[in-house]
Amino acid sequence: MAAAAGKQTTEGWSSRWGFILAATGSAVGLGNLWRFPSEAGTNGGGAFVIFYIFCVVLIGLPVLLSETLIGRHGKADAIESTKTVARDSGASTAWSALAGIGMLGAFLILTFYSVIAGWVIYYIGLFAGDVATSIGNGALLGGAFQGESLEQVQGYLPALFADNGLMIGLHALFMAVTVFVIARGVGGGIEKIAVYLMPTFFILLIGITLYSLATGAAGEAFAFLFAFDPSRLLHGNVMLSALGQAFFSLSLGSAMMITYGAYADRKTNLASTSAIIAAADTSVAIIAGLAIFPIVFAAGLASDSGPTLMFQVLPASFQTMPAGSFIGLLFFVMVLFAALTSSVALLEAPTAWVMKRLGLPRAVTAIGLGILAFAIGILSAMSFNSLENWHPLNFSIFEGQNFFSIVDIFTGKILLPLSAFLVSVFVGWIADKRLTDDENGISGGLHLTWRFLIAWLCPIAVGAILVFGLIS
Ligand code: TRP
Repeated sequence: MAAAAGKQTTEGWSSRWGFILAATGSAVGLGNLWRFPSEAGTNGGGAFVIFYIFCVVLIGLPVLLSETLIGRHGKADAIESTKTVARDSGASTAWSALAGIGMLGAFLILTFYSVIAGWVIYYIGLFAGDVATSIGNGALLGGAFQGESLEQVQGYLPALFADNGLMIGLHALFMAVTVFVIARGVGGGIEKIAVYLMPTFFILLIGITLYSLATGAAGEAFAFLFAFDPSRLLHGNVMLSALGQAFFSLSLGSAMMITYGAYADRKTNLASTSAIIAAADTSVAIIAGLAIFPIVFAAGLASDSGPTLMFQVLPASFQTMPAGSFIGLLFFVMVLFAALTSSVALLEAPTAWVMKRLGLPRAVTAIGLGILAFAIGILSAMSFNSLENWHPLNFSIFEGQNFFSIVDIFTGKILLPLSAFLVSVFVGWIADKRLTDDENGISGGLHLTWRFLIAWLCPIAVGAILVFGLIS
């Protein structure tokens, strides 16, 4: 085995499956369970879903492979790894900016991701309480929140928003758990939780989906998610949303796959591993749709309710589902597992770099970055109440947006696409082809296809998200 130049990391996955589970855990998160169904809902269902799948295969997958191969060649944190690939290709080490931009994106996403994960913890508490009440009444097989009106159930979210202390407390709790896992390291922390939580997650997801299809409006849900209406497909906004969602969901452009790729050993075939990660992530998004929409349609509620789908529409929909409080509890536990395996990845990307850079112990770095992310996240939490009308950057695409939305837009529309764009140009045009081709694990027609996609389609498509994201 040829040793890579640059700093060697000592940490790594204990097996190829450890890598696959951890990387899938990072990809599968609130993006699949919360954002995908609501994006599909607001963008008209079927056309969005079909275009989404094209984006994953033709644009997401080539970039995913490129990011993991940069990491595996460099065998260090994302910035150092990119520098190594640049150096070994005789190119400027300034290309490592693509990793720096992604790392900043990951860190900023973490600040609000933890706030939303805090809401998930709150709903676990609500449903757990409701399970206890139903058992007390001998009515566990009935729906959730029996005897409460729709307004009451939907009122739990605004009630949470009105309680700054509670929201910040839950945010702190989730961040503390994330920091704890990262402090324990790659094998002992990240991989270990992935190995336990991801299989549990898949079992819960399949179980809940089958139950939801059996008791809910399965036909309507299928029609909604898969009915192909070409007139909606040609809608530029739908296409851009699908591409943006694919990038977010696959954790691309956030230095993350570079970071995790560095922990993979030389025997791991990166192309087939990337394909498994992308396939798992996409299946989870679609299955999540098949879990959520039958419940929502059976309750006669609307599909296009945007971000409140998971936290208002769905809880209300559990009211009409048999054993709704119990299934609701399982559902939110499942979401929490998915969120945690993503938040650790978000923290790991910057931690790996800062710890090397400043020569600090892993635990100290994780705690320091966790506190910083927590502090910034407080402003996002408060964007749902006292800071709702605070518009700190009142210009251009940020006009009229509060702090939470600004961070969301800045990461989703600028940092992540910019990083992914630079990755495509770097691997497609700049990096030494002998080096990238040696890492990627594919040959023949597949290899030529990947070369074409990463050099042409990926930069053009991602460039389009950037440009249109900024002007529209
Ligand atoms: N893919 C994650 C999700 O679907 C979100 C995400 C984007 C992410 N970039 C990341 C997670 C980097 C971990 C690391 O929820």
